Amino acid sequence: MANEIDDLKQRAEKELEAATTPDGVDAWQAKYLSRKGEVKQLLRGIGKISAPEEKKRIGREVNVLNETLEKKLASRREKILGEARARQVAAETVDISLPGTRPSCGRVHPVNRMTREICEIFQNMGFQIFESPHIETDANNFQLLNFPKHHPAREMQDSFFVSEDVVLRTHTSPGQIHAMRECAPEPLRALLPGTCYRNEAITPRSEIQFHQIEGLAVGPDIGLADLKGVLLEFVRQLFGPGRKILLRGSYFPFTEPSVEVDVDCILCDGKGCRLCKDSGWLEILGAGVVHPNVLRNGGYDPEEFSGFAFGLGIERIVMLRYAIDDIRHFFANDLRFLEQFS
Ligand code: PHE
Repeated sequence: MANEIDDLKQRAEKELEAATTPDGVDAWQAKYLSRKGEVKQLLRGIGKISAPEEKKRIGREVNVLNETLEKKLASRREKILGEARARQVAAETVDISLPGTRPSCGRVHPVNRMTREICEIFQNMGFQIFESPHIETDANNFQLLNFPKHHPAREMQDSFFVSEDVVLRTHTSPGQIHAMRECAPEPLRALLPGTCYRNEAITPRSEIQFHQIEGLAVGPDIGLADLKGVLLEFVRQLFGPGRKILLRGSYFPFTEPSVEVDVDCILCDGKGCRLCKDSGWLEILGAGVVHPNVLRNGGYDPEEFSGFAFGLGIERIVMLRYAIDDIRHFFANDLRFLEQFS
């Protein structure tokens, strides 16, 4: 019997050493230490021993064997699991020198970028940003800006009417009324960026919605020369230091005199090219000296106050700067277009 115990011990230990996987160790446990395992069978064999002393001694030896093997099993299992874990960790190790995949990232729409850029230029000249509603009364959008009902100048701006007296603003100029009424009788320098709406055919050159920035300065002695100085500074900051501007006489009901302002062509420097249609000049905005009626409607006494105003189309400026030939790109949400502006 003693031999049998020794035998079993040696065999079991050798096999345990040979088990290198968790499954292998489980199988070894089933073979030796389970209820039907070899160690239990040895114990059962003890019943056949007749001498009580012998029975006791052998029983103790088998129990010692059982304990020894249990301990060895535990440490073998620990070792194998440790190795498996180490292998797993090694396999999962990240190579931190590998270049990562950049998450795709949104960017600011070219119209918003340009709006911010232009606002910053005017803010540095003391203009303050105002907001005004997209949905306007006919009064604010037209009448208080000196367009009486049925005035032919209304046809310059085909409108979306919400009701007889409510309209989607066709330009940012109604913001002039809001800004003046908020500030009068103090002098003001206001900048009003925003979306405008016109009931037009959608073509490469016109959209039903677009963006403008309105500028307005009102003070005791402000005139056309101030307008010209401010716009020249603006154009040079936006398009480059050597730029020139040209003021051409024009008509808007809310300014008198009114002008359209051109910049010398940023592509050919005024020599004449496709962009400027060989004229050497690019039209960038409408402007003028604020009409006395409009000052009065804003709450200023035109005997004491005067001012200038201008309005520019943001899409048009972006199109000029990047030589974009179709205004419809701005609302098409085509990433191939938008991703070019980063
Ligand atoms: N509101 C005019 C337009 O949309 C532009 C403008 C603004 C002209 C201010 C003069 C003064 O065409």
